[in-house]
Amino acid sequence: MDAGNSNYTDYVRDKYNQYGGPKDPWHRYAQERIDHFTGQLVREAGLPENAYLLNAGSSGNDHGLTEFRQMHVDLAEATIQHLPEHIQGSVESIPLPDQTFDACVCVGSVLNYADGMKTIRELTRLLKPGGILVIEFEISNSAEYLFTKHGGADQAFVSTFLNYEEERINVYSRSAIFSLLDELGLRRERVVAFHVLSPWVYRLTGSINFAARFAALDPLVRWSWLSRRAGNLILRCRKS
Ligand SMILES: C[S@@+](CC[C@H](N)C(=O)[O-])C[C@H]1O[C@@H](n2cnc3c(N)ncnc32)[C@H](O)[C@@H]1O
Repeated sequence: MDAGNSNYTDYVRDKYNQYGGPKDPWHRYAQERIDHFTGQLVREAGLPENAYLLNAGSSGNDHGLTEFRQMHVDLAEATIQHLPEHIQGSVESIPLPDQTFDACVCVGSVLNYADGMKTIRELTRLLKPGGILVIEFEISNSAEYLFTKHGGADQAFVSTFLNYEEERINVYSRSAIFSLLDELGLRRERVVAFHVLSPWVYRLTGSINFAARFAALDPLVRWSWLSRRAGNLILRCRKS
């Protein structure tokens, strides 16, 4: 199995058609931070009142942004089919015209299950000039992969964990994503790291529960060089 092939896509679709949410403290914390920052980064962007938002790989989660009209796209139809505007399909290729949306949101490691680079290009195509892109993803620079062959790789298919089980995902380096954003004329307005110390503790101890406790220190260490080795980044960019 390899990210990008159809077996992997089927695996992801089946998994999320039955997914019951994060059950380990590492991912419960991540979900809470993602919902919090997504709401904040979108609301602080100064979008027009009638803004139209694309929620790519949404799993039906509107992140509390109920004041905006939203189009939900997901591989897992069970998560979105009850919603008034939805498309079952891949975020890598969305059958909608250029410049349809004021905001595109792709958070919750969706980029790590898809071809992240292709997806960012596709979301940029769908954004109006001046529109915002909010993305969140897991990075290869994380201390979790330090001294492994994938540490710092521009793109790598790695083994990690979710709900105490092995999970295979794509990770990207911070610099590979930032270069692509520059190339596409997406200006970074805010970058927030989370799971800053916890990947170090996980790497040293192998204990998910123990490591997850160190996420509580994120607000203190987010500003330090340690954030370069954080597990997750969420950012807002604006299309020129
Ligand atoms: C961990 S969930 C995150 C859901 C939501 N974005 C959130 O933050 O709560 C990942 C979602 O991405 C979806 N997904 C993964 N790869 C995808 C792809 N290539 N195209 C569309 N959806 C995808 C999965 O089906 C799943 O619903």
